[in-house]
Amino acid sequence: MMVGQIIGGSYGEIWIRQKSDERIELGDLLVADDILLQVYDMEYGSLLEKDDLARISGMQLEGYGATEIHEKDVRNYILVKAKPLFNLKSKSIPKHLPAFFHMLRRASSKDFEFLEKPENAIYLGKIRSGSKILNVPVYINGKDALTHHILIPATTGRGKSNLVKVILWNLVGKRYAGVLVLDAHNEYYSYRKNGKDYGLKHHLQAKGNVIYYSVNPPFGERSLRINIRNVRPWHLREIVEFSPAQEDALYLFHKEYGDKWIEEVLKGEDINGVRAETLASLQRKIKVALEIDVNPKGELFERGKVFSVNEGMRTIKDICDFLEDGRIVILDTSSLSQNLELLISGMIMTEIFSRYKSYKERGELDSKPVVSVVIEEAPRVLGEGKSNIFGTIAREGRKFHIGIIAITQLSSMIPREILANLNTKIILGNEMSAERKAIIASAAQDLSKDDKMIASLDKGEAIVSSIFTKFAIPIQIDSFEKLVDDSRKERKEGKLFLFQ
Ligand SMILES: Nc1ncnc2c1ncn2[C@@H]1O[C@H](COP(=O)(O)OP(=O)(O)OP(=O)(O)O)[C@@H](O)[C@H]1O
Ligand SMILES: [Mg+2]
Repeated sequence: MMVGQIIGGSYGEIWIRQKSDERIELGDLLVADDILLQVYDMEYGSLLEKDDLARISGMQLEGYGATEIHEKDVRNYILVKAKPLFNLKSKSIPKHLPAFFHMLRRASSKDFEFLEKPENAIYLGKIRSGSKILNVPVYINGKDALTHHILIPATTGRGKSNLVKVILWNLVGKRYAGVLVLDAHNEYYSYRKNGKDYGLKHHLQAKGNVIYYSVNPPFGERSLRINIRNVRPWHLREIVEFSPAQEDALYLFHKEYGDKWIEEVLKGEDINGVRAETLASLQRKIKVALEIDVNPKGELFERGKVFSVNEGMRTIKDICDFLEDGRIVILDTSSLSQNLELLISGMIMTEIFSRYKSYKERGELDSKPVVSVVIEEAPRVLGEGKSNIFGTIAREGRKFHIGIIAITQLSSMIPREILANLNTKIILGNEMSAERKAIIASAAQDLSKDDKMIASLDKGEAIVSSIFTKFAIPIQIDSFEKLVDDSRKERKEGKLFLFQ
């Protein structure tokens, strides 16, 4: 079925006349002469002069009788602009133009049989032509993609969290990747919608593979409590601003007292070279940061829910062990301040980083699962002028098989150098033109023509631009809740089958 014909243009801008009874849409995939094209813009075309068109319209609007245009379908048309995406025959970037006057057809699932399922495949969704879904699954190599970082940019409500849940769902039980999720909305592990339970907890292999920590753990789940003896001066530096004198004092105390340094600071232990005022302000800052206080008897006590004086000695170590074992660890940080969330995740990722660094030195890195960390509102940690473990991971984590899944509404707040380092971008809808610009400028493929397409993406519609994909692939992401429902159905049917 022909939908149009090439009538002009240039390499990146091929003009197509739409067949009058067809409806071509923004984002549609068309094929001409082995070349896969994607529609990025449309306008009206007419063989009549502007004045004639205005005159005819005037007659019709003002009721001066029937002024039907002779051969209307021939004289007026829709001009479609498309860009070449891929050469389906040579499996490479197209280097020639399809023949002039070539007829176009819509792409079908057959055209994509060349797409292979990579090793350690993560399923992202199905190929999408405009808003029509083709039955072609799109995968990406999980180890590669995770260690080279993933960016998920979109305006609110377009399906960022849904996408991360779909990715994690497909990683449960795979064990080649450990993923730490900082879940500020408590929406990953377990939640209710339309009277039903959803979340990663409902995966058939969730037990032992999806680990959940919360400061208010439901019965049987783990408690997110961390002992203050696990906190180091460099952890605190990431969330608290210290003066140079205070910073010196931090390190002096740590050198003198080892992992008991916080207790000694708070008790006001005298130490050579630290002035009383410095110590006093240090105490204040640490008390606020860790939500710990000292009673008149000089004993430490907890005011907050996370940092503990007596408990939680193993929490950070356990979490790192789980990650290093290829499991998914979800931290419910919904009732914590941003600073606490960053402190905890920083402590975990610093530990993972140093472990993986030493595995690399010992030549053991390849036998370890890769580790990734999911961060919502990524500019908080990756923004201009920030210096912390997440920036280090974005810049050099790849060497140590550690990556980031950065979620953001504001890509423009992340420095270009870091944006360019996030080598897989799964771009969902975005209304803000400054944001689209930042994303387009740092994508792995030339998306300069995709501005309108990105603006018009609906919930769950995305474009995958990655150094690991041969072209920027338009996809439709599954609904996470449908995945859960389907797996429940399967389980039920499986049980029925057993009883037959
Ligand atoms: N691929 C999809 N298919 C069907 N429904 C979807 C899809 N993606 C998202 N939704 C639905 O759209 C709503 C918003 O999705 P989601 O919470 O993932 O958006 P978000 O981008 O994370 O938003 P926020 O910026 O508020 O965090 C949810 O109700 C979700 O179920
Ligand atoms: Mg979200």
